[in-house]
Amino acid sequence: MARVLTGIQSSGRPHLGNLLGAIMPAIQLTANENQESLLFIADLHSFTTIKDPAIRKENTKSIAAAWLACGLDTSKSIFYRQSKIPEVCELTWFLNCVTPYPMLANAHSFKDKSDRLSDVNAGLFDYPVLMASDILLYDAEMVPVGKDQRQHIEMTRDIAKTFNSQFGEIFVIPEAKIDDEVMTIPGTDGQKMSKSYGNTIDVFLSEKKLKKNVMSIITDSTPMEEPKNPDTCNVYNIFKTIASENQKTEMRGNYEGGNYGYGHAKTALFELMLDRFREERKRFDHFMENEQAIEQHLQEGEEKARAIAHDVLARVKTTIGF
Ligand code: ADP
Ligand code: TRP
Repeated sequence: MARVLTGIQSSGRPHLGNLLGAIMPAIQLTANENQESLLFIADLHSFTTIKDPAIRKENTKSIAAAWLACGLDTSKSIFYRQSKIPEVCELTWFLNCVTPYPMLANAHSFKDKSDRLSDVNAGLFDYPVLMASDILLYDAEMVPVGKDQRQHIEMTRDIAKTFNSQFGEIFVIPEAKIDDEVMTIPGTDGQKMSKSYGNTIDVFLSEKKLKKNVMSIITDSTPMEEPKNPDTCNVYNIFKTIASENQKTEMRGNYEGGNYGYGHAKTALFELMLDRFREERKRFDHFMENEQAIEQHLQEGEEKARAIAHDVLARVKTTIGF
């Protein structure tokens, strides 16, 4: 049975891009009977940027609630918080000691973050090694991720191969599963939707706040009466990621026909979001109000994850002489 593993950082509340690009496709993968899935919340990774304990806790809770609200069946997968399996930190140290310094110094994500952030800490630098440890600690064979994570998986493979060539076949060499079909969801300003750009649509807000969020999408000043081009409009570009073929055709007709303003399009998008995510929104609120239920799902997963981690770490330590 192939073992599939993926993680998502708890660096903010989950947004439409996270749902469509990561959470929903990963849940679909868990339905495959021939696969064992490990899905985790990378809360140790989020400590590189989020230092406020209350915020990080709230983010972790909302990311967990989002997975569960989107239909994650924890009887078919192992769902856990990274920080609850401390073996991952021990393995990180061993991996650090075979990781060449220049490999980390040349990582795109480190260069990008060290240019953007004021707090350039060693955790950011070592981020890819902790990620390698996340993967190698569970003998994962397949790692579904977005395109931006390709280099991190390459590094994981390099670190594992170096280790294996020095000490014997200890680690499974994982493969990245990058789905080119999954589109990049644009944000309210037309750039890639991302927590770090402040341009997200937060699907799980209350109706009133979600409406305000949708109304904040940036549009041009074409007057109401004039026909409009849907393809260059941020509202339509978000709409099309969740609309059916018929809904898209109808919306294109509205834009091209004139007498249809951006306010109308935003209202239609807001209503579609409520409709498309009605069940998920209800379940999200339920979990956010029942922390105990989230805790129970996670603790069950953590017990299973820890058993695997314990065995793999023991194998590593015996082989390298600790
Ligand atoms: P963010 O950019 O908001 O910080 P993360 O880097 O935490 O998001 O990404 C978590 C997961 O969600 C990754 O697998 C990533 O590929 C996916 N994801 C994030 N933003 C988008 C987007 N705009 N479109 C599609 N997938 C996305
Ligand atoms: N770095 C990933 C991201 O930002 C999150 C992550 C951490 C991850 N560890 C992982 C993804 C292990 C896959 C496997 O999206």
